[in-house]
This record gives sequence, structure tokens and C-alpha cells, in this order.
Amino acid sequence: MGKDVIIACDFSSKADVMAFLDKFTGKKPFVKIGMELFYAEGPAIVKEIKERGHKIFLDLKLHDIPNTVKKSMAVLSSLDVDMTNLHASGTVAMMEAAIEGLTRPDGTRPILIAVTQLTSTSQERMENDLLIKEEMSKVVAHYAHNAKVAGLDGVVCSPLEAEMVHSVCGKEFVTVTPGVRFADGDKGDQVRVMTPAEAKKIGSDYIVVGRPITAAADPVAAYERCVNEFVG
Ligand code: C5P
Repeated sequence: MGKDVIIACDFSSKADVMAFLDKFTGKKPFVKIGMELFYAEGPAIVKEIKERGHKIFLDLKLHDIPNTVKKSMAVLSSLDVDMTNLHASGTVAMMEAAIEGLTRPDGTRPILIAVTQLTSTSQERMENDLLIKEEMSKVVAHYAHNAKVAGLDGVVCSPLEAEMVHSVCGKEFVTVTPGVRFADGDKGDQVRVMTPAEAKKIGSDYIVVGRPITAAADPVAAYERCVNEFVG
């Protein structure tokens, strides 16, 4: 899997995301479309951005009974996205059904990655609300292993977990890591962050970067800086 920078396009309307993408006249970045934009604009937004030549990570984090996830993944696959995801807590059976639904008649499919535990879930909330009493790192490793067993390509994880995931699931297992900030940048609401250069060093395969690019005075320059630090 090629290393790349994915821009989190956390905009709430088509007008805003298109105005942002219009700035990129050279290389077309890999972009992440999340629930907010997808629910606001529907599948048409995926097709339009795809037609502009961008790769798309559709971040909808599916979690339902296996049959529903299988059928929903078939719909997402027909949108020709490049990467999508689900919650590993939906079980191995759900993840296997997802792969089945995602696989096109010609055998190709988008990259499928799993969310292990959301980074907003603390050890305390996991124990008290979810009644999962194990250590967070053990839970993340176990869910990543389940994703691998089900045939998924990788996980979304904190950059701080990427090395551990690779040691449990192998180097080829993809780690997609948000929580990236420039050394001289604003952290915003992210707590545990890494620079693109550090994420490269610890073996992240893709970094997901939102505000350091979308809120920059010069987003194209910020994107290029990210690519130079992470890939270059
Ligand atoms: O603006 P920022 O760089 O913080 O954006 C990070 C993106 O990655 C957002 O779309 C956020 O929802 C997503 N994300 C995250 N942490 C996770 C999973 C996803 O920040 N654990």
C-alpha cells in the first residue's frame, strides 16, 4: 500500500468542499469524506469529487447486523470509493460480510479498514459503559487482530498505536492515523498528536490531516508540506 496524506474534508456543504478543492490545481489529493458531508449531500458528492480525479476515503464507520452491512457495503463499492471503514466491535462475522458485500464482480474492492476503539473512548468509559475490563492497548490489539482474521486491510488508529498494530498484525497491515499536527502548529482539540515526520518514522501508512490543511492560510502549501514530511 502506498504511503499518502489524506485530507479530512470536514465541511458541511458541497459549496464549501468544492471551493476548498478548487485551490488544488496540480496534484489531486486523497480526500476523506465523513458522515456530515455525506448525510448533507448524499452519494452525488462522492461521484462529483471522484470525477475531479481525487481518491476517496468514505468514513461512515458502519456497524449493524452482518446482512445489512454486506448490502450497504455493496452500495458503497458501486460508488467506486478507494477506502471505507466499519467498527471492529461489530464482530468478525460482520467484517467478513462487509468484505463480501464490498467485493465487485471482477474481484476488486476498496481498501477496508476497521475502527478499533474510538480515541474518544477512555479506559474508564470502556470499563464502566461498555463493561470491557481489559487494558485499552490489549483491546485495540485484539480488535485489530480480528479485523485481520476477517480479511480486512488495516485499521484506523492513533499514531501512538501504529507500531503495536504492525507488530501484532504484520507490516503489510495498513495503519491510517489521524491526530497529526505540524511541530509549530495549533493542536486544536487533539490531545495525543504526532508530526507528519514522526508518523512516517513510526510506520504509519496513511495520515489523515484536517484542520492543519483546511484551516491554513495557504492550504495547498500546507498539504505540500505534509506530503514532503510524510512521503518525501
Ligand atoms: O482536523 P483534524 O486534523 O483534527 O481532523 C482529523 C480527522 O480525523 C477528523 O475528520 C476526525 O473526525 C478524524 N478522526 C480523529 N480521530 C479518530 C478517528 C477519526 O481525529 N480516532
